[in-house]
This record gives sequence, C-alpha cells and structure tokens, in this order.
Amino acid sequence: MQEKLRRTGEIPRHIAIIMDGNGRWAKQRSMPRIAGHSEGVESVRDTVEACGQLGVEYLTLYAFSTENWKRPKEEVSLLMRLLLKALKDETDRLHTNNVRLQTIGEISALPVEVQNELLEDIQKTKDNTGLTLILALSYSGRWDLTRAIKRLVEDAKANKLPEDQISEQLVASYLSTGDIPDPDLLIRTSGEFRISNFLLWQLAYSEIYITPKFWPAFRRDELYAAIRDYQQRERRFGMVSEQIKSNGSKGGTLNRLIKSVTGP
Ligand code: IPE
Ligand code: IPE
Ligand code: MG
Repeated sequence: MQEKLRRTGEIPRHIAIIMDGNGRWAKQRSMPRIAGHSEGVESVRDTVEACGQLGVEYLTLYAFSTENWKRPKEEVSLLMRLLLKALKDETDRLHTNNVRLQTIGEISALPVEVQNELLEDIQKTKDNTGLTLILALSYSGRWDLTRAIKRLVEDAKANKLPEDQISEQLVASYLSTGDIPDPDLLIRTSGEFRISNFLLWQLAYSEIYITPKFWPAFRRDELYAAIRDYQQRERRFGMVSEQIKSNGSKGGTLNRLIKSVTGP
C-alpha cells in the first residue's frame, strides 16, 4: 500500500491530526475514559511508524489543548501520567526509527516530571533525520498567536524590528511552529467538524479530512485512506484550476507563489 501511495501522487510533507474520540470509544465498550486514551497511544505508535515509512517529513499531533485543563482533575492527572509513561516507553523506539521529537505549546504548564522527560527525549532525538514528530501539548492556536504578538511587541520596543518589516513571513516566524512548513493535510477523527483551537494560522490552506472513526480505532489503513483522498484534491491556493494544471509544464513561478502561502 505504501508503494502504491507513492505512485498515485504526492505524499503530504506535513500531516496534522486532531486525535479525538477516545472517551466515546471507551464509553461504547463500557470502559472508563482513560482506557480510550490508553488505546489511543497504540494508534499514535502505528501512525508515527507509518508516516516515517512513507517519508512524511512532519507529523503534528494535537494531544492536549489549553482548554483540556478544564476537564475533571482526575482525568487531567491520569492523562499526564499516561503521557509520561508513553514517553518513557516509546522514546527508544522513536530513536531507533530515526524520529526527531519536538513539542509546541505551553510546556511549562505541564507537571515537572513530564517537562523533564520531554527535555530528555527531545535532546536524545534531536539529530535524527527522519520524521519530525511534533506533540502539541497545552497548546491552542490563540495561545500561539498571543505569545507571538507579545514577543513581536517586545522586539519592536527594543528596536529590533522596524515597523515596515512586519510581513506574513515575520509573523509566521514568531509562532511556535517557527520554521516548520504549514500542514498540507489536517485529519480529525470522531466525526467532529471543527478546529477546536488547533493551528489557527498554519491551517490557512490545509486540506481537511474528517473520519467518523474514533482515535483509538484509527490505524495505518485509515491514514492511507486520508492520504489517498488528499491526493485526489486540487489545491488552488486562491488561483484558478487552469493555472494549477499548466504549472506542470511551466514550473517555477507558480511553485514560488504556492511556497509564499505554505511557508518554508
Ligand atoms: C481526545 O479524546 C483526547 C484528548 C482531548 C485529550 P477525548 O477525550 O476528547 O474523547 P471524546 O471526544 O470525549 O470522545
Ligand atoms: C481537541 O479535542 C483537542 C485534542 C484532541 C487534544 P477536544 O475533545 O478537546 O475538542 P472539543 O471540545 O470536542 O472541541
Ligand atoms: Mg473530544
């Protein structure tokens, strides 16, 4: 299947996933919500492995949102424990598979043991050259934009930033995704048609794929189906179909135009 996908079209460079539906998956089976989160870790493992094998460059997983702190204390604490355990159990495998781990979000809000484990794992995998796996933890798009604006204003006050230099590229560089290209494909599981405060700026031109499957039931076959669907889309970036179609023969200019929309 991986070979076939490479033949049928372009593999998205950056995939972002809103991993939703763990609680409902568990409820369907009369299990506690944490059982759904735990099974969700298996889906992460399979998805990360398949992305690495396919040659996807970046995979961003929405694992815990700013708003998720408002959940019952007990669930938040179990989620943090599960995250710590998953990091401890999985990092060696990630490292062997040449995966580079990164995070976006307010990491200082996480329990100290989780912060330390993340630091260690990021350090350990930093020179890997395969898939970059970005965990969005205590993350929200509005948090990201607010933080970027604060830092921009600070730099402007310190005269590091003449006013006429404020361009889209500059704003993008202040976001936590810095030099990471925008997602080509956004997947959301559990059939919800919303962004839930994920990468608000970065998703400007991402293709969106929504599956009714709950996250714990999402495995590589679902990923392949999403990529196949993506390959059949025509990404126009505000232009018209004819411009996109003729690009193959002319090259150059349009690719530059598209790059100006999708980032580095
Ligand atoms: C996603 O599953 C995991 C997190 C948000 C941490 P949910 O826990 O949101 O599961 P549902 O949506 O309630 O089924
Ligand atoms: C989005 O799921 C956040 C993550 C997957 C981490 P939620 O379950 O928190 O989103 P809503 O509340 O249904 O919008
Ligand atoms: Mg949910």
